[in-house]
Amino acid sequence: MAEIKFEATKTFKEKPDVSSIGFGTHFSDYMFEMNYNREDGWHDPKIVPYHDISVSPANTTLHYGQAIFEGMKAFRQQDGKIVIFRTLDHLNRLNNSARLLDIPNVDINTVHQGLKKLIEIEKEWVPAKIGQSLYIRPFIFATDPYLGVSVSDTYKLLIILSPVAAYYAHGFAPVKIMVEDHYVRAVPGGLGEAKTPANYAASLHAGLVAHEKGYDQTLWLDGVERKYIEEVGSMNILFKIKGEIVTPSLCGSILGGITRKTVLAVAKEWGIPVSERRITIDEVCEAYKNGELDEVFGSGTAAVISPVGLLSYKGQDMIINEGKIGSFSQKMFDHITGLQSGLIKDTQGFIEG
Ligand code: COI
Repeated sequence: MAEIKFEATKTFKEKPDVSSIGFGTHFSDYMFEMNYNREDGWHDPKIVPYHDISVSPANTTLHYGQAIFEGMKAFRQQDGKIVIFRTLDHLNRLNNSARLLDIPNVDINTVHQGLKKLIEIEKEWVPAKIGQSLYIRPFIFATDPYLGVSVSDTYKLLIILSPVAAYYAHGFAPVKIMVEDHYVRAVPGGLGEAKTPANYAASLHAGLVAHEKGYDQTLWLDGVERKYIEEVGSMNILFKIKGEIVTPSLCGSILGGITRKTVLAVAKEWGIPVSERRITIDEVCEAYKNGELDEVFGSGTAAVISPVGLLSYKGQDMIINEGKIGSFSQKMFDHITGLQSGLIKDTQGFIEG
């Protein structure tokens, strides 16, 4: 493994009051950096002062979007210990996204060691309150200065850190969701299962339209038949129907969420039946009509669990669990945040540190 170099900063930033800064607005003093070219492969891993980067106006990422990212979190546990949640799952997913975008795979061990060293250097930036964390954003982008449409020969990987509180300004509370039957997020054979900017760009306009109509987010249906449920906003979606947790199977157009995977593993541990399968919006409406739709919630690294209080489809509003946080959603949120804060013992190897 290549030696990870360190360049000390001369100026340290003042640490913000995390409870009032929202999500992803402030960044720590250092970042991890590594570059790729065809001759040397991934090389020169280093931790350097956080700084702006300059790219050519012809930078291929700016024009054609050959880029990927991850989102993970470090926590300060109750006893002061700093831990990271499911590090290797995230780094493996980074390489899966890389494969789909023809970006050269990274050596997981080098990035893992670099990340651990970065967190160790930046440990003072990890907030202490429950619900707060140091959000870790690894990303890779193509750096060729070239306007032809082709796979880049050069890349940059950076890991930046941002102290964060709850993702939503209103905290852990039910959201209103509009089922989107016009715009689509991704299609099978496309990039849906990659964590790549294109998927987020594809979601922005529909998200804005939903906002204008008074909803918090969109529920995505499949891009072919517009009947199978895929994701909600930028999260995975889960339903509790007749006591069973049902979530769309990973069919190629859905991101394999690490929180989704955690929810399924914890539910199984609790002896609650789980099913990963295709589920139609009609089935959800039918379950609602029959009084069998107990709960609906999104899952993601940023928000952890996001309970859905209202689902609107073709002008009909479905009020889920009287618009309140369901008991399963609450219990799962408490459990995952409890594992992260160290209040609950980790029996499944999710916590590193
Ligand atoms: C997540 O919560 O996993 C996300 O992808 C949201 C992030 C893009 C802010």
